[in-house]
Amino acid sequence: MEKKEFKRTLVTAALPYANGPVHIGHLAGVYVPADIYVRYKRLLGEEVLFVGGSDEHGVPVTIRARKEGCTVQDVVDRYHNLIKSSFERFGISFDVYSRTTSSIHHQFASDFFKHLYEDGKFVEMESEQFYDEATQEFLTDRNIKGECPVCHAQDANGDQCEKCGSTLSPDELINPVNAINGNPLVKRSTKHWYLPLNEYQPWLEQWILNEHKEWRSNVYGQCKSWLDADLRPRAVTRDLNWGIPVPVEGAEGKVLYVWFDAPIGYISNTKELCDAHPEYGNWETWWKDDSTRLIHFIGKDNIVFHCIVFPAMLKAHGGYILPDNVPSNEFLNLEGEKISTSRNWRAHRQCS
Ligand code: 2FM
Ligand code: ZN
Repeated sequence: MEKKEFKRTLVTAALPYANGPVHIGHLAGVYVPADIYVRYKRLLGEEVLFVGGSDEHGVPVTIRARKEGCTVQDVVDRYHNLIKSSFERFGISFDVYSRTTSSIHHQFASDFFKHLYEDGKFVEMESEQFYDEATQEFLTDRNIKGECPVCHAQDANGDQCEKCGSTLSPDELINPVNAINGNPLVKRSTKHWYLPLNEYQPWLEQWILNEHKEWRSNVYGQCKSWLDADLRPRAVTRDLNWGIPVPVEGAEGKVLYVWFDAPIGYISNTKELCDAHPEYGNWETWWKDDSTRLIHFIGKDNIVFHCIVFPAMLKAHGGYILPDNVPSNEFLNLEGEKISTSRNWRAHRQCS
């Protein structure tokens, strides 16, 4: 295929999750490579924009807040500020570093969902989930504990047993309980909205497997194995009280799934910058003009979301450009061990 000439480059770096500090693995794998690339483009005198921000929704921040006895807002404020200042001190030259709890992002992601909803792009499905009748809440996998069916450890998580390493689903646990308060759980039906990824399968195969053979082999290979296994509808909402409320009547107590709203943060953060500083241009030129080259720098765990789910969301919405490349590095190893936040770092426990 003929190589496309682009007029400008939009670079995004994965939004770090505001549940801990950034470590050397994140910097080496994502932020330094993105920063080098952006600085190189600037030196060439090319038009380039470098967008970052913190990812502040989802379940883990709510678990941390409960454990520490502070509010979820306290947790994300603490880590957003810590991460932002680490990037500044390290010299990562973002043009904008914002956050997914900003009001601009909430409005933007909510409108994005509403557009898809009104266009009939979602399928609604009911499923049975574990429910705590005492606290009146649905529990996510990570908030459920019980006896491991494999090694019979008493406190296996709903998604994994830490003792024997088995991957689990909450249904497999013996005597599942609420991990926070030990309450027994019942099954209750709940409605969610799903993006039917299966409908985008032929398009994704053409776009990635045929038109982006130049993507790195780890990225291309992971996309291929997902596509070979056939895509299924994916829920884009959750029963949770932290996040962006689902903007649909009758959806009280439900929020957008964190992996639905986080990548939209790249767009809303661009909009936040451009609206406040017109010298950066119009946000729509960065996201909707096909002479813009979009590049997502990401970690290895994020490949499916950036190469399959987010492009399908953009395609379903219409009007947006798609990533031209999605560079992702393997994990950085130190002395033969993968670096991870949980293993190498002990939580800061002070609440503000
Ligand atoms: O893996 C992570 O830490 C995620 N917070 C990355 C999100 S990238 C984007 F989608 F926002
Ligand atoms: Zn076990």
